[in-house]
Amino acid sequence: TWTTEAFVDEAVREVRARVGDKRVLLALSGGVDSSTLAFLLHRAIGSQLTCMFIDQGFMRKGEPERLMKLFKDQFHISVEYVMARERFIGAIAGVDDPEQKRKIIGHEFIRVFEEESKRLGPFDYLAQGTLYPDVIESADTNVDPKTGERVAVKIKSHHNVGGLPKDLQFKLIEPLRKLFKDEVRNVGRSIDLPEEIVNRQPFPGPGLAIRILGPVDDEKLNILRDADLIVRQEINKAGLYNDIWQAFAVLLPVRSVGVMGDQRTYAYPIVLRIVSSEDGMTADWARIPYDLMEIISNRIVNEVDGVNRVVYDITSKPPGTIEWE
Ligand code: XMP
Repeated sequence: TWTTEAFVDEAVREVRARVGDKRVLLALSGGVDSSTLAFLLHRAIGSQLTCMFIDQGFMRKGEPERLMKLFKDQFHISVEYVMARERFIGAIAGVDDPEQKRKIIGHEFIRVFEEESKRLGPFDYLAQGTLYPDVIESADTNVDPKTGERVAVKIKSHHNVGGLPKDLQFKLIEPLRKLFKDEVRNVGRSIDLPEEIVNRQPFPGPGLAIRILGPVDDEKLNILRDADLIVRQEINKAGLYNDIWQAFAVLLPVRSVGVMGDQRTYAYPIVLRIVSSEDGMTADWARIPYDLMEIISNRIVNEVDGVNRVVYDITSKPPGTIEWE
């Protein structure tokens, strides 16, 4: 019978046998798949694993720091922090079109990944948190005709990107490829991955960059980060985090008139996007209590400079998507 513990033992054995004394690279995003994989590989091969965390500057408030602290200080997993905020924000400066934004961020990611993996390498293997649904539907890999091994041509966290360059090819390690998301969470739990990651709500690879409509700049990123933090804090406090598929803030690049004290304001609106869903394919806007909406709205308008209005998105998917870009 299949048990999580048996799976972990077997996966650890297989990885050790396959890797021998070689080195493995893993692009860590902080999501449940790559984090579970990092914990599993760390258990199997210890310091032969190098994780690379690329800070694009589009994560939520405090997340990069939190992630590094957790992995490095608390669990002693080798993580290379790559500060690339200026590169990414420079690359998408002035870009309006959502697909264009995604594409540029994806390409920049591959470029940084390439440079850094050469600097830190060489590595024989690339570990990816590919899950069973990814295996079925994607062409992210090629099979090497000689060895029958799967070869990485793309980085999982950026589906919409072109391929890895030809001279940067790794043999793939994908211990989670037979698992569904729920099973990955169980594996994570059984190897001591903290609940905050096990239960983390999905977060898109391009991050906050696709939650600011139109051109992204530092001012808007700071506003959105502060608003997003308030949404997270209040959803957590209300005990709703695990009942909700995703809860986040979106910044619209228009301004409206408001009044604060005896001052007229002219500032951005924040959209609250809070949905329930089974798998992200369809979703329903969440019927959170009005009182909770009020708390979130008051806090955002009072605490976040540059925002004077909060609206609630009552569009289900379809016809709306979960993200706004
Ligand atoms: P949509 O907006 O298409 O989102 O309804 C469905 C789910 O996918 C996530 N999402 C992404 N994840 N890279 C990702 O890794 C992306 O570019 C991306 N776009 C959307 C979204 O957060 C939701 O969970």
